[in-house]
Amino acid sequence: MAEARLLQSVLLIFLSVVVFAEDETQFIYNGFRGANLRLDGLANIQPNGLLVLTNTSKQLSGHVFYPRPLKLNATRSFSTSFVFAMYPDVEAHGGHGIAFVISSSTNFDRAVPAEYLGLFNLSNNGLASNHVFAVEFDTIQNAVFGDIDGNHVGIDINGLTSNDSASAAYYDAEGQTNRSLNLTSRQAMQVWIDYDGDERLMNISLAPLGLLKPERPLLSTHLNLSSVFLDSMYVGFSAATGLTANEHYLLGWSWSQIGEAQGFNFTELPPLPRFTSQRRSLEPVFIGLLAVFVLLLVIIAGVIYALRRKMFEEVKEPWEQEYASHRFSFKDLYVATKGFRDSELLGSGGFGKVYKGVLPSTNTEVAIKRVSHDSRQGMREFVSEIVSMRRLRHRNLIQLLGYCRRKGELLLVYDYMSNGSLDKILFEKKESKSNLSWSQRMNIIKGVASALLYLHEEWEQVVLHRDVKASNVLLDADMNARLGDFGLARLYDHGSNSRSTNIVGTVGYLAPELSITGKPTPATDVFAFGIFLLEVACGVQPFRLLNFAGEDLVLVDWVFECWNKGAILETSDPKLEGYYVSKEMELVLKLGLHCSHSKPEARPSMRQAVQFLHGDAVLPDVPSDYDLERNGLLDKYWGTSGSFPSSFQVSANSLFSDNSVARHGR
Ligand SMILES: *[C@@H]1O[C@H](CO)[C@@H](O)[C@H](O)[C@H]1NC(C)=O
Ligand SMILES: *[C@@H]1O[C@H](CO)[C@@H](O)[C@H](O)[C@H]1NC(C)=O
Ligand SMILES: *[C@@H]1O[C@H](CO)[C@@H](O)[C@H](O)[C@H]1NC(C)=O
Ligand SMILES: *[C@@H]1O[C@H](CO)[C@@H](O)[C@H](O)[C@H]1NC(C)=O
Ligand SMILES: *[C@@H]1O[C@H](CO)[C@@H](O)[C@H](O)[C@H]1NC(C)=O
Ligand SMILES: *[C@@H]1O[C@H](CO)[C@@H](O)[C@H](O)[C@H]1NC(C)=O
Ligand SMILES: *[C@@H]1O[C@H](CO)[C@@H](O)[C@H](O)[C@H]1NC(C)=O
Ligand SMILES: *[C@@H]1O[C@H](CO)[C@@H](O)[C@H](O)[C@H]1NC(C)=O
Ligand SMILES: *[C@@H]1O[C@H](CO)[C@@H](O)[C@H](O)[C@H]1NC(C)=O
Repeated sequence: MAEARLLQSVLLIFLSVVVFAEDETQFIYNGFRGANLRLDGLANIQPNGLLVLTNTSKQLSGHVFYPRPLKLNATRSFSTSFVFAMYPDVEAHGGHGIAFVISSSTNFDRAVPAEYLGLFNLSNNGLASNHVFAVEFDTIQNAVFGDIDGNHVGIDINGLTSNDSASAAYYDAEGQTNRSLNLTSRQAMQVWIDYDGDERLMNISLAPLGLLKPERPLLSTHLNLSSVFLDSMYVGFSAATGLTANEHYLLGWSWSQIGEAQGFNFTELPPLPRFTSQRRSLEPVFIGLLAVFVLLLVIIAGVIYALRRKMFEEVKEPWEQEYASHRFSFKDLYVATKGFRDSELLGSGGFGKVYKGVLPSTNTEVAIKRVSHDSRQGMREFVSEIVSMRRLRHRNLIQLLGYCRRKGELLLVYDYMSNGSLDKILFEKKESKSNLSWSQRMNIIKGVASALLYLHEEWEQVVLHRDVKASNVLLDADMNARLGDFGLARLYDHGSNSRSTNIVGTVGYLAPELSITGKPTPATDVFAFGIFLLEVACGVQPFRLLNFAGEDLVLVDWVFECWNKGAILETSDPKLEGYYVSKEMELVLKLGLHCSHSKPEARPSMRQAVQFLHGDAVLPDVPSDYDLERNGLLDKYWGTSGSFPSSFQVSANSLFSDNSVARHGR
């Protein structure tokens, strides 16, 4: 069995190199295993029979020749065919090419690689003494030799300037259209070169391995080779690399001077090396990664878009159309406040946080109040009211510029007041002199009184403020008072969950009758105004307990007790250090007591209060039953005397069921 196989392979070697007489030579190599050929340079035969003309070592060449010279002349026909492949080392930039050679010599030691294809050099290129005929398969366009492109077949006689050439291509069966070929495509290609000595016609064809010889050759050229061919010539191949390189392979070769060259047995041709360029093998992975990356980008962009949408989402209902001009976009407000950053926070109160902002469109400074509001119920009414309040214009009211509505919150945009809120300046934790002089305080008091008079009596509707206190009074650049937050108490009347223990108004400023009637009136605003007057004059917060004759008292009672003892001026703010007009101080303190009288009917109206402040009317004396009434009432409501219980919680619903804006026109 093993002997039979050995015999078979020995026979095969003999059969694959069949040498006839020199005169009429015919041979075929179906692969070059064991072939006796003349090799030089990089050329070598691999164990599987693949003939490597060059690897990708730069600036080198390789040659292979049939070992014996053949008898050739210009009138003798020959036919040859071979199979080659080229593997570029850099994609699309391989070099330089393979040439089929008929030469008088096999010594190319002095020849140059690269564009000289290992056949010629600078000094002998083109010389008739070379006696070289070649068919080049050139993958680099060289302008010096008039190359037509970097992928052509050319006929070279004694030099590299081709006598005829064509781009690598083949004609299909009909011979009509040519199909272009890529020499460096790593595909095996078969070449047929037929020379008709009678016609002196050289036909050259090539086609992908496996196809039949094309009917119509790529090149068909009349040549007079009489001066080229000497009596004995060598046949073989040359290949060269330059700065760029191909691996040049030969798979088979067939030669005949007696008729057409024999066809190959394709199954016997050696396989081409598997192409395992890192770049190529990484390509699918790379493309995959790229696709995943792009997909990720798309997803991220989508998520960002959705988040942005969500982030800047607003609530807009059809009925709000008419208020469109009063509406700000949330995006603008977001930009204005640098994303409602804590650094832009001006303060936070009962109704929400207030931020400073600069509107991107107009560059104007604004204060933006963020009020959380869970209910849509009553929103329409509230928004209409808020928007109508835009029409409230008074030099001592903070101007509302507009609003914005989102799910669960309302944003109100106001003029920005550079000096902040009054309570901050008034109750500054500073031992030294106050920042607010008495004349400034009088101006502030008159301003707030004037604003309340406007709300109560001078506008088209009666507007109740419901939360008069020092912290709701803001100061503009000239220290003028601006009353803010009016009308916001209405939010709590409309809220669906108003059964919660929200207090409209602030402890210490709430008129006692509110707990019986639950109905805010102008007189309840006056009560709070009275407390505000005492606050400004005394520099004391209304809920602070003050000791008088061994008893803890709240501000009102303390002022009353001092008045009772004939020492009302002792309650004046010590930070004023006695710099005040005594008459005015006394007026403000007494008016404060009048306004915060426990009986609503005993309090002056805002119009009267303004008259007293401006000296247009004379303030009557404080009634002597002041404290009795007060204590009696407070005992009745709170069960204590004078001080408010610490756990003060009143249901907003039961207390304030009515509207703050009474629509009884005027
Ligand atoms: C090419 O072959 C030669 C020997 O034939 C070897 O020295 C050289 O390293 C090879 N070059 C490459 C790039 O494989
Ligand atoms: C070419 O060679 C053939 C056969 O060897 C011979 O008969 C013929 O005369 C030669 N022609 C020339 C021009 O040498
Ligand atoms: C070119 O090649 C020829 C033939 O091999 C040789 O005689 C000549 O010296 C070479 N010229 C140069 C410059 O190498
Ligand atoms: C093959 O066709 C192309 C155009 O399709 C043409 O430019 C080229 O010259 C043709 N080649 C041959 C050898 O006819
Ligand atoms: C020829 O094939 C090689 C290898 O596939 C490729 O890199 C090159 O771009 C191709 N050239 C042309 C002109 O298509
Ligand atoms: C060469 O090609 C022409 C057609 O282009 C054909 O007529 C002729 O027979 C061919 N000659 C050989 C030797 O193949
Ligand atoms: C080949 O072309 C060269 C010039 O390019 C010319 O001198 C020579 O005669 C041509 N040879 C043939 C056989 O056509
Ligand atoms: C071929 O060229 C030789 C000179 O090199 C000349 O004597 C001969 O007549 C030419 N033959 C033809 C057919 O042109
Ligand atoms: C081709 O070669 C294979 C294996 O060497 C052989 O079996 C087959 O008969 C051959 N085909 C031809 C047409 O010679």
